[in-house]
Amino acid sequence: MRELNLITSNPGKLREYRELLSERFNVKMKPLEYHEIQADTLEEVVCHALETLREYAPVIIDDSGLFIDALKGFPGVYSAYVMDTLGCDGILKLMDQEKNRKAHFRCVVGLLDEEIKIFTGDCPGEIVRSKRGTGGFGYDPIFVPSGYDHTFAQMSIQDKNLVSHRGRAMRALIKHMELSFTRI
Ligand code: IMP
Repeated sequence: MRELNLITSNPGKLREYRELLSERFNVKMKPLEYHEIQADTLEEVVCHALETLREYAPVIIDDSGLFIDALKGFPGVYSAYVMDTLGCDGILKLMDQEKNRKAHFRCVVGLLDEEIKIFTGDCPGEIVRSKRGTGGFGYDPIFVPSGYDHTFAQMSIQDKNLVSHRGRAMRALIKHMELSFTRI
């Protein structure tokens, strides 16, 4: 089975990747530090980081963020920093008086094999008023995807992957990899 290096130190992300990819790839977690540039988009961060990781190809990086409408897209590309400083509680405080709860997650997956390919997935939803659930990671306890009543943190990995930003990006990645294998 083909090996695929996932550059992350987040076991939650690894679980989601393995759940969808393990029939086709042996996904290995590489908790390498890489340089994250300050950029306006997740795509720029991913492309720049992949350039420094050629020796690990085939390799994937996943950069994701939560974009809240009422906060003009914040925390967006700053999602990791905001999680480490304010956390879910801080976001709920910022949203305390807000009626507009709309938000979306975006996931950008970069694959470096012979060349760089980018796959994206978005998941619209809403920010709840108080944390719910113990599963998942990051902002999962405060985000309910559109059409559902449960937060990501209340869902199984399988259910989260069905609707999530990461599930969508991963399915695009799988499609691309299957097509490139049939060409060989
Ligand atoms: P990064 O992609 O690891 O840079 O993630 C940025 C921030 O968003 C981190 O604090 C993650 O915990 C959070 N995050 C990324 N993906 C998800 C997700 O699927 N659910 C909840 N939080 C996420």
